Amino acid sequence: MNILIYGIAGTMGKIVYNTLKNHSNCNGACGVDKYAKQEEFDIPVYQNVNDVKETIDCVIDFSVKAALPDILTYCKKNKVPCVLCTTGYSNDEIGMIEEASKEIAIFRSGNMSVGVNALVKLVKEATKLLGMASDIEIIEQHHNKKVDAPSGTAIMLADAVKSEMDGLEIVNGRQGICGKRTKNEIGMHAVRGGTIVGKHEVMFIMNNEVVTLKHESENKGIFAEGAIRAAEYLVNQPAGLYNMQDMLF
Ligand SMILES: NC(=O)c1ccc[n+]([C@@H]2O[C@H](COP(=O)([O-])OP(=O)(O)OC[C@H]3O[C@@H](n4cnc5c(N)ncnc54)[C@H](O)[C@@H]3O)[C@@H](O)[C@H]2O)c1
Repeated sequence: MNILIYGIAGTMGKIVYNTLKNHSNCNGACGVDKYAKQEEFDIPVYQNVNDVKETIDCVIDFSVKAALPDILTYCKKNKVPCVLCTTGYSNDEIGMIEEASKEIAIFRSGNMSVGVNALVKLVKEATKLLGMASDIEIIEQHHNKKVDAPSGTAIMLADAVKSEMDGLEIVNGRQGICGKRTKNEIGMHAVRGGTIVGKHEVMFIMNNEVVTLKHESENKGIFAEGAIRAAEYLVNQPAGLYNMQDMLF
């Protein structure tokens, strides 16, 4: 399978590039990055996706949300599926993705790791068991270069809670005289610092006892492995929108 690595010069793009060098089914056919230097890569790298000459089986994107229109236009024009790993999309951008998925297969997940997606499933179960008796708070921690908050993963976890309990709203951080906590809040807290790869905790806080579900990423290779596995899955799917839960469970 020929993979186009979108955002190849970034932290994750380079990990995907290196991971694909030793992969049995997939290879990095080319990369796209607004700021890439060709001499850093031994595959063709383009600044504009419209210049890509290779035949591509799937796009793996770890870039920026501003690149979304170009990615979707390229994929629709060439009937190429794409794995969107970039986070921080607005509701309008999510609408664009949903619209495009009527024509092409699109895989989107705020977290490509198997462990985090298992956590999502566990959070749904815990919400069924404990949600009504609990105040639910989510704490996420990331490195000091992350540009969006809360993390895509924290939003996935909040969505998992919401899928099992009606009437909940996310409250981001708390400041000043914010009033007593109500039962219909999911508190969301973002810690930023150093080189933390990613930690997520979902706390079910009851009277006199707390259940905490936690995941910790030790290195970013897990996201690249997950994205490549998603590409292998996606090329066999019809047009539609897919996520890690569809692939794993
Ligand atoms: N889903 C997941 O599991 C997961 C895991 C890690 C990171 N991410 C997300 O992936 C994205 C990239 O993360 P990163 O740490 O590699 O960031 P990064 O800043 O290191 O890399 C982004 C790359 O995109 C390039 N770029 C910027 N504008 C572009 C454009 N218009 N067209 C093409 N390329 C462009 C930049 O030059 C850069 O090389 C972020 O949104 C991050 O949150 C998702």
